[in-house]
Amino acid sequence: MNKRKFLKQAGAASVAAGLVLASRSSQAQAPGGDTKVLIVYHSVTGNTEKMAKGVAEGANGVSGASVGLKKVGEVTADELLACDALVVGSPIYFANMASEVKAFFDSWALKFHFPFTEYKMRNKIGAAFVTGASISNGKETTMQSIHAAMLINQMSVVSGGGAFGASATTGPDSPGVDEKELGAARALGKRVAEFAAITKRGSKS
Ligand SMILES: Cc1cc2nc3c(=O)[nH]c(=O)nc-3n(C[C@H](O)[C@H](O)[C@H](O)COP(=O)(O)O)c2cc1C
Repeated sequence: MNKRKFLKQAGAASVAAGLVLASRSSQAQAPGGDTKVLIVYHSVTGNTEKMAKGVAEGANGVSGASVGLKKVGEVTADELLACDALVVGSPIYFANMASEVKAFFDSWALKFHFPFTEYKMRNKIGAAFVTGASISNGKETTMQSIHAAMLINQMSVVSGGGAFGASATTGPDSPGVDEKELGAARALGKRVAEFAAITKRGSKS
């Protein structure tokens, strides 16, 4: 299947942007109950959004997972507090996360008024995915900057899809998001949902 055809099919099958916590009630529930995976991203030209939909597909494939997909500016405090896992995606801008993604993290204190010392996101699972034009111009630094924002809030960071998370090269050497990169995004979503279910189950025993 060529890339264009796949993306068309994936787009039709994937969770639409803006969808919040679409339950997979037809599946058997994972021990420990519903695991809420919230995927949050920024995207201007669509590459990071395609990866976000891939992460959502991967998470949706895990029994008991409820998956939400939102743009950074649309997330509410209640959604953050309700999730068991948060996966954050960004385009790479000058070897770092986009300012919109940084503003999303800053909003936890500045807009949602989570008192820093209360660590409202404590022990939730966190993970990152990125897209960048070049093969090696900041993917890992950007994923690590997302990880750092999660770690300082005492979230539990996991990898998946790649050593630090899922990534795609989108510039002239490899235009857009290809099937292999979407596979990495799905693998990240799957691992996050599985890990969140294990953690949730463990926290109840
Ligand atoms: C201001 C700016 C800075 C960028 N800096 C980098 C960079 O440091 N490394 C890189 O690989 N790509 C860089 N890019 C390219 C984007 O990361 C890339 O096109 C990305 O896939 C865009 O994601 P989107 O389609 O989700 O908006 C930059 C793009 C812009 C607009």
